[in-house]
Amino acid sequence: MPDSIDLHDLRSLPIEQLIRVADILIEAMPFIRTFRGSTVVIKYGGAAMVKQELKEAVIRDIILMHDVGSRPIVVHGGGKEITSLMDRLGLKARFVGGQRVTDAETLDVAEMVLVGKINSEITSALTRGGAPAVGLSGKDGGLLVAEKLLEPGPTGEPGADLGYVGTVKQVNPAILDALRDKGYVPVISPIGVGEDGQGYNINADTVALEVARAAGARKLIFLTDTPGVLRDPADPRTVIPTIAEDEIEDMIAKGVVSGGMIPKLRSARRALEVCRKVHILDGRVPHSLLLELFTTRGIGTQIARRDVL
Ligand SMILES: Nc1ncnc2c1ncn2[C@@H]1O[C@H](COP(=O)(O)OP(=O)(O)OP(=O)(O)O)[C@@H](O)[C@H]1O
Ligand SMILES: [Mg+2]
Repeated sequence: MPDSIDLHDLRSLPIEQLIRVADILIEAMPFIRTFRGSTVVIKYGGAAMVKQELKEAVIRDIILMHDVGSRPIVVHGGGKEITSLMDRLGLKARFVGGQRVTDAETLDVAEMVLVGKINSEITSALTRGGAPAVGLSGKDGGLLVAEKLLEPGPTGEPGADLGYVGTVKQVNPAILDALRDKGYVPVISPIGVGEDGQGYNINADTVALEVARAAGARKLIFLTDTPGVLRDPADPRTVIPTIAEDEIEDMIAKGVVSGGMIPKLRSARRALEVCRKVHILDGRVPHSLLLELFTTRGIGTQIARRDVL
């Protein structure tokens, strides 16, 4: 029997292959039941959404999740696209400790890319595919109340001024509840609003964490551009399949993880207050979401409390 099955025309398949398709559906059933009615937050990393065909595979998976009764909430990033538009506009992107220094001009570009482009693309693709979606930023319905990020420096002294970079002060999930009750998939841009109306650019991993907590999500899944958390970031074969929550700070201190992986792991850790497991998966591998959710195949990196592992 061939390794892969072309599902595009089931009528032309020999009976043995059709039986295999049925086996796959049967294997998925208990998982589908488990997630029916459950909220799953999917953080879709900017780096993983560059290629069109990959985007389509991720979108199809989210549509299927919605169709079988689970309740996906999408939070997206877009760091790479913000930098590339800044380049085209002749603006220079600056980073301090992995965070983008955000002056008023950079905030405008971030909002244009995140809200105007990426969010509307995802929302429109989900809706066209049959999962009616609604695009939101933190400004809609007061969803994400932000405050300026004041990151301490290495020895606790005040850190660098990053401008309009925010943290989530509060999530108002009322708009998410209203959309859920009507069967809409919320798609959230990581832009928050301060109590004075000022917009803030927030790391999307942190937004995904806070949304997962506020919505009581069963799972939080980070789709990014690596096969998982790597023991050696230069070697994609070194995926760490399982990380216990209490190992995370040590891995950061030892420099095993750096840059954009740090907010992901810290967010994962805090998300375990509501979720049993958090996953970091390769968004460039077609259907990694479905494999993780609906089959016995564990892929990428899973993070959980030691007593759950
Ligand atoms: N040990 C590690 N294993 C895997 N990736 C690592 C590790 N340490 C650092 N990284 C970096 O983390 C990056 C992923 O974070 P990054 O912020 O770039 O993407 P994202 O969060 O998916 O997208 P966005 O920031 O646009 O939402 C990887 O591309 C890799 O360069
Ligand atoms: Mg990131």
